[in-house]
Amino acid sequence: MSTEILEIKHNREKFLDLLLLADPEEAVVLAYLNQGWLFALYEDGELYGVMHLIEHDARTLEIKNLAVKESAHGKGYGMRLINQAKVFGKQQGYRTLLVGTGNSGAGIFTFYQKAGFRFKSVIRDFFVVNYKEPIFENGLQCRDMVLLDQELD
Ligand SMILES: CC(C)(COP(=O)(O)OP(=O)(O)OC[C@H]1O[C@@H](n2cnc3c(N)ncnc32)[C@H](O)[C@@H]1OP(=O)(O)O)[C@@H](O)C(=O)NCCC(=O)NCCS
Repeated sequence: MSTEILEIKHNREKFLDLLLLADPEEAVVLAYLNQGWLFALYEDGELYGVMHLIEHDARTLEIKNLAVKESAHGKGYGMRLINQAKVFGKQQGYRTLLVGTGNSGAGIFTFYQKAGFRFKSVIRDFFVVNYKEPIFENGLQCRDMVLLDQELD
């Protein structure tokens, strides 16, 4: 089995289905689709995951989107993509890796903490103000954006 992570510069719309797993509002995903760096993870030529990185500020790289095909969860692909973000962020001279995720996710905070992130802050009502449709997960409304970060050293 050979896994490779490729940077995608063109035709990023092809990855929309996967990106929508992590960010359900198409207009929001399309608004940042052509910014930053998009990476795709393939195993034996088959697409399994995507990660979209965008500059947050001069010292901070943000993981704007990260998604692995549901049928392939738990195989380490998500962690491989995070490791790619760490290597890439360091190469580009960023000092901090940031990610924001909804309050209603189950298990996502375990995943990010295992990947080295720590809780930073909360933007209350981010998803209420910025998304047209209310988002529900696990019987809970996704209202607040929880920010986690880690230093890249
Ligand atoms: C979050 C996501 C990217 C994780 O990808 P993955 O390939 O399944 O994760 P990995 O297999 O690399 O898991 C790495 C570690 O995190 C743990 N982990 C991953 N998802 C978890 C969950 N939902 N609950 C608890 N632990 C979890 C794994 O058990 C593993 O732990 P280990 O190293 O001790 O074995 C994937 O579940 C996903 O695409 N979810 C839908 C989209 C989404 O929510 N994206 C994030 C929005 S910001």
